[in-house]
Amino acid sequence: MNRPHQTHGLLDRRDALGRFALAGATPLLLGVINGCTGPGRSREHRHPDEVIGTAPTPYRNGAVAADHPIASAIGVEILESGGNAVDAAIAVNAALGVVRPYSCGLGGGGFMVMYSEGTGSAWAMNARETAPPGIWESYYVDLRSSGGPEQASRYGGHAVAVPGTVNGLFLAHATHGSLPMSRLLAPAARVARQGFEADEHFAGAVESLRRTRERLPWTCTVSGWVWERWCGNGSVRAGSRLQNPALANTLERLGEEGLSAWRSGSIPEGLARAARNSGGKLTTGAIADYRASACTPLQIENAFRGDRLVTMPPPSSGGIALAQMFGMNERLLREAGWPDTRDARTSHQMIEAMKIAFALRAEYLADPDFAPVPTRRLTDPEFIRGLADQVESNRARAAKEVSDGLQLPDDGGTSHLSVIDRDRTAVAWTSTINGTFGSLVGDPGSGIILNNEMDDFTTFPGSGNLFGLRQSDWNAPEPGKRPLSSMSPSIMIDSDGRIRAIAGASGGPRIINGTFQALMGIRYWGETAAEAIAMPRLHHQWLPDRVAWEAGAESIHGTESLKSLGHEFEDGSRGIGVVQAIRVEESGFEPSSDPRKGGRAAGY
Ligand code: DON
Repeated sequence: MNRPHQTHGLLDRRDALGRFALAGATPLLLGVINGCTGPGRSREHRHPDEVIGTAPTPYRNGAVAADHPIASAIGVEILESGGNAVDAAIAVNAALGVVRPYSCGLGGGGFMVMYSEGTGSAWAMNARETAPPGIWESYYVDLRSSGGPEQASRYGGHAVAVPGTVNGLFLAHATHGSLPMSRLLAPAARVARQGFEADEHFAGAVESLRRTRERLPWTCTVSGWVWERWCGNGSVRAGSRLQNPALANTLERLGEEGLSAWRSGSIPEGLARAARNSGGKLTTGAIADYRASACTPLQIENAFRGDRLVTMPPPSSGGIALAQMFGMNERLLREAGWPDTRDARTSHQMIEAMKIAFALRAEYLADPDFAPVPTRRLTDPEFIRGLADQVESNRARAAKEVSDGLQLPDDGGTSHLSVIDRDRTAVAWTSTINGTFGSLVGDPGSGIILNNEMDDFTTFPGSGNLFGLRQSDWNAPEPGKRPLSSMSPSIMIDSDGRIRAIAGASGGPRIINGTFQALMGIRYWGETAAEAIAMPRLHHQWLPDRVAWEAGAESIHGTESLKSLGHEFEDGSRGIGVVQAIRVEESGFEPSSDPRKGGRAAGY
């Protein structure tokens, strides 16, 4: 197998990393930065504590922000019955797999980050799917040249990676849970059995699948069960009632029998059969062998104005990108005199920071078990200062100036939940099956939809994935390897060790920028969680070299001024991620679910 990164690649990339920092340190660019500390410099920015805390925090005992009202309510049900934040997060996660089956579920994977204010300890969990055995780096290229199905990394059995969510649920429970697993999975089973009403967002997912089936008729066969069970053969609208008794049985079995029901018997047999029916490599052995892992979160001291960022390390790209974007923006905001309103200047520097972080993502990030990801270097404060120095205040740099290296649809296939309990233990957990309805392959026996996470690997070197992301050879598929992810579950801790905000998002690469802008809203602009989430967002992922924008961004971000600096905007507006966040104050908690997906938060 040709694996250049394991020999010369490491050195090459480290050299390139040096160039990234050096470029920002040229006297020319430093001069420009020094020149941007104009009239605003003398203005003292209000310290966040002066503005945060003025809006009411409605809950004192616990709060949950999930992207579906039923899931948030189930989280509060568990907290009220004595469960802790992890118990609640497990129950919410399982419920989301029922009410948002096109976003997440037992057939997917995810990352969780936890922080306990009481003990000051932090914990993270990697339940990301892995490539199954029998995969190789050029698998999708070879499949296409041998006449395999179109877009095989996105739809059908070839797209399916070994699911991680069930192992993650049990690992979270074994390490931090307090109520019995059967109790935690029961509410999700109840909803699956009794049924629930589809909402507008669900109806949108049905339409999305209809379009996929029209565009790629071969997917009609592989999506047969999903189309019938979850979409009523296309008849499901907002208000339609949906049930999944097979999934209810699976959840109950897992609650009663534990992981053994997942590792052998009818559940893995049905899943492997479903994937292999359309050519996939998923095996019962791979399902049995999969292990979620506990890991140390990426913790960035002084990430932003004294706040510590507790977030996910690789194979998430989100944590590193957030650290870089916060670090760059802190430096640039300081240089600009701590502007206290959102304007074109602050939006300009946020976009420029996004470009740099996404260019680095494309080049250096992958599964650290398989590639020498330079996490420490990429999050080094000096390095990040050098990146900030590359940002020019008076013009947008073209993507190719940011990096001449490698390059990099919707928000359907992922779901983020945030929870806090009365002891101030916080959980941020993002789960995904990747695309809307994942691979479209479902198993009627277990009621589970399988992910299409294989598309997060670099499947066709040099071309974009489902989200237009270009990624490096370090992220090529290999058996057991986890694809690079944008999922960014994150917690902000102040300098006294107090939790101040919990956030994360869905939306592919827009996860990172959505999470960043919501956290900036809460921790810099003093907005409530609801305000920060509702604020129209911008997104830049380095390539394509265009700013994506949400309706309403024109006045908030000064898009005309941004255009005059050279930023090119996409033709039409579109949604940029779906964020679930909780703002945390001494007085209590303010959870907020993103109205973009019709979620509703809850608390007590
Ligand atoms: O892990 C990732 O980065 C992607 N699988 C996330 C996909 C996603 O967010 C889809 N939309 N919600």
